[in-house]
Amino acid sequence: MPETSIIIAIDGYSSTGKSSFAKKIASAYGLLYLDSGALYRAVTLFAMENRFVQNGVLDISGMAPFLGDLNIHFQHNSVGQIQTYMGGRNIEADIRTMAVAANVSIVAVDPIVRNYVNGLLRSYGQKGGVIMDGRDIGTTVFPHAQLKLFMTADSMVRGQRRADELRAGGEQCDLQEVLQNLQERDYIDSHREVSPLAQAPDAIVLDNSHMTFQQQMEWIGGILKEKFGLEPLKR
Ligand code: CDP
Repeated sequence: MPETSIIIAIDGYSSTGKSSFAKKIASAYGLLYLDSGALYRAVTLFAMENRFVQNGVLDISGMAPFLGDLNIHFQHNSVGQIQTYMGGRNIEADIRTMAVAANVSIVAVDPIVRNYVNGLLRSYGQKGGVIMDGRDIGTTVFPHAQLKLFMTADSMVRGQRRADELRAGGEQCDLQEVLQNLQERDYIDSHREVSPLAQAPDAIVLDNSHMTFQQQMEWIGGILKEKFGLEPLKR
């Protein structure tokens, strides 16, 4: 059981390092980490494999009846890393590809898909003690989160980080293509009708273009201690 019932919402642009940051905070403070982007990516993978998304068009009426049975969930592997599952299948690597990135904003725009993912997030998060990252967590999913962060960084820095991440995972990629994908997704995510990517009025902005990971952890450590009296777990 987490020692606190706090809900922390981290929103922001693609590849600003939201998920690495959220995972580290979760393990340091004993919170449950929920990656909302992984859920959208998982639905997208399902849509692609079953041809519910083709040529940039989602067949939502074809896919909707299957959503309730997808059983998308998270499990830790033997070295403590969080893995995304669909039923019994580990889909962690499959959802991180450029092919999925190219389709995910098209799928995530749909209100039925968003409603499905938000339901999962709220059911996981209802007891608190969670940190979630995404695009609309502080505005739509948990508007009453006690702490909201909005992350941003220079687009070149973000593109380089994502290209390094894809290459480290063994995928060949071109920096220009990665940059273009980030910009397209940011555009679609910020301009969609249903819960667009937006900064909540009470969010604290973190621009980490020129910050190390360690500096980010010190920064959040100060906020958690000052505002909530939270200290990292003793190990
Ligand atoms: O890892 P990256 O920041 O590039 O993206 P992600 O968090 O894995 O999210 C992938 C995509 O899912 C985003 O580009 C959005 O289209 C969608 N998404 C969303 O619409 N709402 C969220 N709360 C989280 C992700």
